[in-house]
Amino acid sequence: MGTIIVTGVPGVGKTTVVERAAEELGLEVVVYGTEMLEVAKKRGLVDHRDEMRHLDTETQREIQTAAAESIAAKGRVIVDTHGFIQTPEGYLPGIPKWVAERIEPETVVLVEADPEAIAARRADDETRERDEEAADEIDEHQGFNRHAASAVATLTGATVAVVENADGQVDEAVADFVNTVE
Ligand code: AP5
Repeated sequence: MGTIIVTGVPGVGKTTVVERAAEELGLEVVVYGTEMLEVAKKRGLVDHRDEMRHLDTETQREIQTAAAESIAAKGRVIVDTHGFIQTPEGYLPGIPKWVAERIEPETVVLVEADPEAIAARRADDETRERDEEAADEIDEHQGFNRHAASAVATLTGATVAVVENADGQVDEAVADFVNTVE
């Protein structure tokens, strides 16, 4: 049994769903952004996770590769990450070939929700410096994430599943996630 990769646009509630599902499944969650933040902080590049997507993309790729190596060494875990990261230079793939080949996922789970609901969740989340995006931009980003999951699946043989995290329905999303992975 291999690693499970979970992606979803910021604010979709991916972390909320994954933390609860991981508890039920008895699996560790590794947050890719946290692994990258540790590397970036050691190099004196950033203080906060929301600064990373604004670094130049070459630096982001270097930190991304270092994080993939440490994650690959952890065995079967749930990796909380992104299909594409929105940077000032365009969409950066979160799981390019060299990351996919290191992690060798068994399944890629996409957490999705209605774009209007995601925009509202971001606006309500005061703990983070979230980018403001219109619903049509969030919709586009979710579309790109589906393409990313297809590419990872094609490269590695992983399966792809979509979990809907509808407003006020975290329990249903967690149950769907657990059924998919079990
Ligand atoms: P990361 O650490 O993944 O942060 P993020 O992108 O902001 O994602 P979060 O996990 O914080 O948001 P979420 O969607 O899980 O929302 P939450 O559960 O909090 O990434 C940080 C950075 O790391 C990235 O920007 C990037 O720079 C970098 N990075 C990561 N992976 C990378 C990679 N592979 N390559 C390169 N760079 C990488 O929920 C949000 C809100 O919604 C909460 O208030 C919650 O209560 C609410 N909510 C959740 N579910 C529901 C529901 N069903 N109904 C109503 N409200 C809900």
